[in-house]
Amino acid sequence: MGAEETGAAVRRVGIENFTLLEAMAAAVPAGFKLVDRQYRVLRINQWLAQVAGRTVAEATGLTLAELVPELWPQVEDAYRRAFEGETVVNLESTMHQGLGSGRVRHLMGSYYPVYLDDEIVGVGNVVVDITERKEAEQLTIRNLAAMVDAIALMVECRDPYTAGHQQRVAELSVLIAGEMGLDARVVEGIETAARMHDLGKISVPAEILSKPGPLSRAETDMIREHPETGYSILSDIAFPWPVAEMIRQHHERLDGSGYPRGLRGAEILLGARIIAVADVVEAMSAHRPYRGGLGIDVAIAQIEHDRGTLLDADAVAACCRLFRAGRLQKALASMAARTPPPRSPQGVVHLCGDDRKLRVADRLDPAGGTSRRGKPFIRRKEDSA
Ligand SMILES: [Fe+2]
Repeated sequence: MGAEETGAAVRRVGIENFTLLEAMAAAVPAGFKLVDRQYRVLRINQWLAQVAGRTVAEATGLTLAELVPELWPQVEDAYRRAFEGETVVNLESTMHQGLGSGRVRHLMGSYYPVYLDDEIVGVGNVVVDITERKEAEQLTIRNLAAMVDAIALMVECRDPYTAGHQQRVAELSVLIAGEMGLDARVVEGIETAARMHDLGKISVPAEILSKPGPLSRAETDMIREHPETGYSILSDIAFPWPVAEMIRQHHERLDGSGYPRGLRGAEILLGARIIAVADVVEAMSAHRPYRGGLGIDVAIAQIEHDRGTLLDADAVAACCRLFRAGRLQKALASMAARTPPPRSPQGVVHLCGDDRKLRVADRLDPAGGTSRRGKPFIRRKEDSA
């Protein structure tokens, strides 16, 4: 084969390959585009042009702000970073255009610098449509939330004494976890666990939950099984967080004095340690049917006393910061306004679980006060059941 024939064959193979790539780029249900330093579209495939409501010819040459005005503010930073040499992967964005019926289109894009002779001449962008996956995820999340609400309601219908307790502990847990700077997704998991942390009480006979007098050892043991029972009920449900384990651990204490397993320190999940602080604060500060709240000042004195020994030091510190800023009081007042305490004419409606110990403490020193040694008066280490 002569040189001329060889050159023609190479050109033919090149054209075939290019045509094949063009055909694939046009047909694949994913987007490709290349933009220059002025964010003008140099190349775009058919799928991505259609997402923007344009043809390839119409889209080519437009700036991104002109092509996808709704998306541009969401992706501008990724393009800038790519022009500085960074590869940005799996950035999610949303747009309302194109799907109709009020559906939101969810996209996931990657952005990478395109070099020519060591110089970045453009940014390449690969986009996939994740709308169906996101809609399925959102449906699952909505169903999980509805299930959690149903479980919380089930426990509280059976035990009106704790009506609202789980919700209040959940709200306090969210405040504390947020103050600690935890990721929003982690906070969501803690809230979910707190929302039904006393689920296991469903296995405790109602007459024990509402028994007004002292509990026998056997009855106390039965109530102390509720974290393990809650864990058993939920352990097969695939939450995106360790919800069942947090519930199992919400009465564990740093020094190993908690129950059911006597876990210590870092053996206890951070979420369970946060719920424990919220549980103590709620139990002590909220009104109970047979008494007014002991008061937030007493609750704060208690958790400060237990800081680092029974309760997580960081969670207590965060809670105290919220208290000093007045945010804790505001949240508790808002919760109290939403769930006024039930009262009988005699002021005694229900007594329940470990919280009866609070009543004993009230009688000893309703305002908290100090012991003979001058230390803050500290009630039993038990908080609410
Ligand atoms: Fe509990």
